[in-house]
Amino acid sequence: MPDPNSTDRTGVSALHRPTPVDRFIAHRPNGGTEPLITVTDLVRNYPRPRTSLLKRAEVVRALRGVSLEVRPGERFGIVGESGCGKSTLLRIIAALDRATSGQVVVDGTDITRLPERRLRFLRENLQLVFQDPMSSLDPRMRVRDIIAEPLVVQGHPASGQRVRELLDAVGLSADAGDRYPHQFSGGQRQRISIARALAPNPKILVADEPVSALDVSVRAQVLNLISDLVDELNLTLVFVSHDLSVVRHVCDRVAVMHAGEIVETGTTGEVYAAPRHRYTRRLVSAIPTLPKALAGATTADLLTTPDPPKGAPA
Ligand SMILES: Nc1ncnc2c1ncn2[C@@H]1O[C@H](COP(=O)(O)OP(=O)(O)OP(=O)(O)O)[C@@H](O)[C@H]1O
Ligand SMILES: [Mg+2]
Repeated sequence: MPDPNSTDRTGVSALHRPTPVDRFIAHRPNGGTEPLITVTDLVRNYPRPRTSLLKRAEVVRALRGVSLEVRPGERFGIVGESGCGKSTLLRIIAALDRATSGQVVVDGTDITRLPERRLRFLRENLQLVFQDPMSSLDPRMRVRDIIAEPLVVQGHPASGQRVRELLDAVGLSADAGDRYPHQFSGGQRQRISIARALAPNPKILVADEPVSALDVSVRAQVLNLISDLVDELNLTLVFVSHDLSVVRHVCDRVAVMHAGEIVETGTTGEVYAAPRHRYTRRLVSAIPTLPKALAGATTADLLTTPDPPKGAPA
């Protein structure tokens, strides 16, 4: 039985088939360097529950005018503390929530006010991976049906061969398809979520804290898997984390969010080495354990080895 956490894969190239978006990008006059996602001045206010009939309803200002661009093939990170609006931003980019104002253009189409029936191109080309695979995978379905479901929903044939290719690509053996989500470890369940997200052959993978719920020693393996798949399948990645060292490992560029706003954007190397904003400096100074896990430390090592002093190289 192959090691289920191994990233040694053979089926990746078989996964990629040209899509209409490939052809679209190939024929762009500038060779596909125009942004694939453009977010302009995005605002999202949520009503706060009323505490008194006499008081006016207040709002939570989850996004306060966010603008960003993601270019084709880029690995774009969004980092910031809990509640700063990261998931809200992703949900609006994926058209799972609507903006109060502002605009989101994906692949040349303004999706901000498009009705659901005209969002098919987005549903096929943009797929999401969430933080907690246990709640995002239906416990009553076998893994092969979970992986095939996005294909079936979109009216595509879902062959056993395709499911085996996807399982292979995420480092799981073909017999994993016969089992149920609760029969896997957290890291393996996240591999299943990734296989499911790749099933419709998307161009854009959006990952919302995909490793935060995982044991720290498994995090590195799942991050490496995402990174390899993004490279080999030529995906554009939007990756959210509250941990800058995780984003640094996976992304080329990063936007730092604070209280519904982007306070700093740059290459991950620049932002990590020379943070300009006070809030980013705070993020950088919180040295997490991930670099050690990436260097091969086991959970036991991480629990017994003290963290290096602040400011020391990781
Ligand atoms: N559907 C909703 N209704 C009301 N308020 C919401 C809703 N969704 C998010 N919020 C509020 O918007 C703000 C931003 O939430 P969001 O989930 O985007 O943060 P986040 O950065 O993803 O946090 P975390 O790191 O904890 O996942 C929070 O104050 C949250 O309580
Ligand atoms: Mg979130």
